[in-house]
Amino acid sequence: MTVQTPVKATERLNKVWARGKDFLGSELPIMCGAMTWISDPPLVSLMSNLGAFGVLAAGNMPPDLFAEQVDKTNDLTSKPFAGNVITIAPNYQDHLDILCAKKVSHIVFAGSLPRGAEIKKAKASGAKVLAFASTTSIAKRMISNGADALILEGSEAGGHIGHVSTMVLLQEILFNFPDVPIFVAGGIATGRMIAHLGLMGAAGAQMGTRFVVAEECGAHEKFKDVFMKARAREAISTPQYSTKLPVVSVRALNNHAMSHFGELQLELLEQLKDGSLNRADAQYKVEEYWIGSLRNAAVEGDVEHGSLMAGQSVGILDKVQPLRDILQDLVDEADQGLGQAIELMQGI
Ligand SMILES: Cc1cc2nc3c(=O)[nH]c(=O)nc-3n(C[C@H](O)[C@H](O)[C@H](O)COP(=O)(O)O)c2cc1C
Repeated sequence: MTVQTPVKATERLNKVWARGKDFLGSELPIMCGAMTWISDPPLVSLMSNLGAFGVLAAGNMPPDLFAEQVDKTNDLTSKPFAGNVITIAPNYQDHLDILCAKKVSHIVFAGSLPRGAEIKKAKASGAKVLAFASTTSIAKRMISNGADALILEGSEAGGHIGHVSTMVLLQEILFNFPDVPIFVAGGIATGRMIAHLGLMGAAGAQMGTRFVVAEECGAHEKFKDVFMKARAREAISTPQYSTKLPVVSVRALNNHAMSHFGELQLELLEQLKDGSLNRADAQYKVEEYWIGSLRNAAVEGDVEHGSLMAGQSVGILDKVQPLRDILQDLVDEADQGLGQAIELMQGI
């Protein structure tokens, strides 16, 4: 295995990115968000080895397998990376215990809101904690519960999403919590955007969709091919048909799996109505559907019947590239974007 040289930030980017770099302990404040079935040890460690920051997805994994994946990532990199735990996953507590026991440097809580005691446990292990915040009140609660940083993820993102766009979250949360490092996600695919977010006060950025098309990403070739051809408007989000079955929206490319999800919801609602299923089991079936169908597409390559979770930025992507080239492009674009902003300021 040839060791690739890490990508370096420029001197002026270092000034804008200082807080994010310091928080992550990386050369670039650019995170590859956790992606179930996709964010495996090779991708996570390569991100970190190249100077950015990888996030390992616990997803719905059996605890033993997750522990193995943490060890494998540690074998492949000496750089910091995070573990991402989903608070609503059946093995969530075990996943959290594994990250704490193995002293992973950063823990990202995803899914619903982590309890104060869970954040405390993560911090007691020495980890820095990142939590998602989709409203001002959640941001305040996460900070008072001890989160060290926040992730804002707008509804442009791929995967499970909230209802509010990145543009609004920036104004609602980023602008109002200047003392907390905030990483922005959802719809980002260019370095220029990352530089401008830095000027707005963001500590850094998290992307998922952009990194699916890295050459080294283990997603199936057919999955990547669809990403290459897709337009932004084809990355649609799922509706919720009834408050009796609350579902977290998923953004994915429109295909049979998306329409089948509508049918599944209607079937589950029928079963809830006739009492043959309870609400907790119905919700479990919803989540199970996505995990299984993402695997079908991303691992098996069934791009018609499997889920093609993708953000709207998929429309901007047009080539599969080595990860190092993607990161270098992001840095070059960010530096250029910063240069343009500086030029503009000089005229003021
Ligand atoms: C295929 C796919 C799978 C994802 N799986 C997860 C996951 O398991 N856990 C999680 O917290 N986020 C997940 N996400 C969200 C990403 O971590 C990231 O926050 C998101 O992709 C950022 O928005 P973008 O797609 O516009 O770059 C997933 C995203 C994609 C595209």
